Formats: sequence, C-alpha cells, structure tokens
Amino acid sequence: MVGIRTPGVERLQDASSLAPDEELDRSLRPRRLADFVGQRQVSEQLSVFIEAARGRGEPLDHVLLAGPPGLGKTSLAQIVAAELGVPFTQTAGPALERKGDVAAFLTALEPGSVFFVDEIHRLPRALEETFYPAMEDRRLPITVGQGAGARVVTLDLPPFTMIGATTRTGLLTTPLRDRFGVTHRLELYPPEELARIVLRSARILGVDIDEGGARAITSRSRGTPRVANRLLKRVRDFAEVRRAGAVDEPVAVAALDMLEVDSAGLDRLDRDILRAIVEKFEGGPVGLSTLAVAVSEEADTLEDVYEPYLLQRGFVKRTPRGRVATAAAWEHLGMEPPRAAARLF
Ligand SMILES: Nc1ncnc2c1ncn2[C@@H]1O[C@H](COP(=O)(O)OP(=O)(O)OP(=O)(O)O)[C@@H](O)[C@H]1O
Ligand SMILES: [Mg+2]
Repeated sequence: MVGIRTPGVERLQDASSLAPDEELDRSLRPRRLADFVGQRQVSEQLSVFIEAARGRGEPLDHVLLAGPPGLGKTSLAQIVAAELGVPFTQTAGPALERKGDVAAFLTALEPGSVFFVDEIHRLPRALEETFYPAMEDRRLPITVGQGAGARVVTLDLPPFTMIGATTRTGLLTTPLRDRFGVTHRLELYPPEELARIVLRSARILGVDIDEGGARAITSRSRGTPRVANRLLKRVRDFAEVRRAGAVDEPVAVAALDMLEVDSAGLDRLDRDILRAIVEKFEGGPVGLSTLAVAVSEEADTLEDVYEPYLLQRGFVKRTPRGRVATAAAWEHLGMEPPRAAARLF
C-alpha cells in the first residue's frame, strides 16, 4: 500500500473532501506499471531499473520526468513508489519557498521513499542548491543560529528516490538536471494507445462505448490521456441526457461538436491561436509573447499546453523569427493559403 502524504500541497488527501470529478480522476489513474498504457520505452526502462533496485535493496536512482501536461508524469511517479513498495510523498516546486520547507520534507521521509517534486522547474533558484548535496550524498547542511553565533550543521538524510516532473526541461539548470540519474521524456500518445486508455476508462466508469465512439474521442484528444478522459466524461454526460446512454460514433461526434472540439481535435483557443497568426499577422512569423497577447493567454500556457499539439499536427511551425501558420492551418480555417505561405512549405 502506498501512503500518500502531502504536507505542502492540498491534494490526494481525504477522498470525501474531493469534488466528484476529482474522485473520478483518481479512479482512472493507473496504479501499476501494467495498467500504464503506452510510452513503452519509458515503462520498459523503468521496470528494469525498479527490478534492479529492488534486487539490490537500494533506492532507485533519482528520476526526471519531462513532457507536456496530462501525459502521465504524476501517475508514473506514484506507480514507481507502488512497484517499489515504498511510501510516496509529494510536493511541488512553487510550494517550497524556504530551505526549511525542503528540510522538513527530506528529514521526515521514511527510508526508501519516493519524494515527488511536481513542477520542479518552478523551484526557487536559491533552493536548487539545497538539493544538490541531498540528492548526491544524502546530506543536508543547514545553518543554525544567526550572526556571529551561526554555524552549519549537516543532517544525514534517509535513502530516498527523488522524482521530478516538469513540462519545461529547458528551465532546469544544468547542475540540477545532472543530478538525476535518469531522464524520461513522455511524448504525445498515438491514437491506438489513446483508444486503449479511453476503453479502459470507460470500463472503470461503466460507460457503454463502442470502437467508433472511442475513435471519435481519441482523434480529438490532442494525444493527451487527461484530455481523452475529460472528453469521455463529457460525452458520457451528453449520452445520458440527450441519448439512450450508449456511446457510439454519432453520439460522440455530436457531443464533441457541442463542446466545440473540432475534427482535428482543436478547441476554441487552438483555433483562436491559428486565426490570430493568420488574420492578425498574415500567417506569421509572430513572436510567442505577441501571439499570447493577441489571444489573451499566458505565453507559458501557449508554449506548454497548446503549442506541442499544434506543432505535432503540423498547423504551426517554429522559426527563428517566430511562429508561422502552415498551409494546413489556413486550410483548416477554410481559407486559401497565400502563395508565399504555400511556397514556404
Ligand atoms: N499511460 C497512461 N495510461 C492510462 N491512463 C493515463 C496514462 N497517462 C495518463 N493517464 C491518465 O491521465 C491523467 C493525467 O495524468 P497525470 O496526472 O499523471 O499527468 P501529468 O503528466 O502529471 O500532468 P501535469 O503535467 O498536468 O501534472 C491520469 O489521471 C490518468 O487517468
Ligand atoms: Mg502531474
């Protein structure tokens, strides 16, 4: 059994205090490596490292999980703890403000624990250094007292595995990145893997869905399990209220149209982004921050959440001078690409 303690973040605590949707999300989260669909390279490697660590009776080396939101980083971190049979403690970069916060977590770890730091790229810079000796030698030097009477005491830490999750590897400093023994990058899921996730979730939720229904959902889930699960839940609502309850392709498509998710899986903001590049900036190139202002979103959100899928689908290209809409983007918006744009691609 994995004990979940989260002193720094209000999450995963008492199931009764969770909103129904959150409770559902918990039930959909894969618990063991065998339930974790896809990302084969990552899960195969992890399973070898886990078995080796178990065999030696040593903690697993520190692991960095990188990739866009909703691809399974938190799930994988919990799975690693479950497979190792060790306690799981979680916090997040922004929740750690002072050295004392880090010390409180690390000194309270049970030996062998997985210590999960979500959004590790948002760890205050000054705190990163605190982690270096902790990760390398399980030592934590802290200063006690003040002024002339101040002295440094080094605390010994229990063995632990740190798992960092980040949507932005580029924002981690090299010294911190280098202290992770393994880095795994999660990629957007291909449709057949997403379909397996939708079918698995439907089984857990007791939704009657056929292959066409699952296909309609996956093709609009931007390669992301969290989006697939969210759409499945909304399609289920639609099927229960407006239809007989079962989800086939026409029902799923009708529900998704109502949610303004189009056939390419783009939602309203995705289309706003494309439209802004095309209409306000003549197809680009346009800088990320200018584009963010044009669609009233944060530049970080555009880069982390929206852009990976638009790039993957070939609607947007990154150039040294900014983002450019491809001919496919113009066509998707029902517009004729200008001759110059057509020549570019
Ligand atoms: N490989 C997978 N197999 C089955 N379900 C998955 C898989 N990956 C993710 N999910 C589902 O997607 C949801 C989101 O995954 P998770 O919270 O682990 O993503 P994340 O990468 O931590 O996202 P964020 O960056 O936003 O924290 C999970 O609750 C789970 O239901
Ligand atoms: Mg997460």
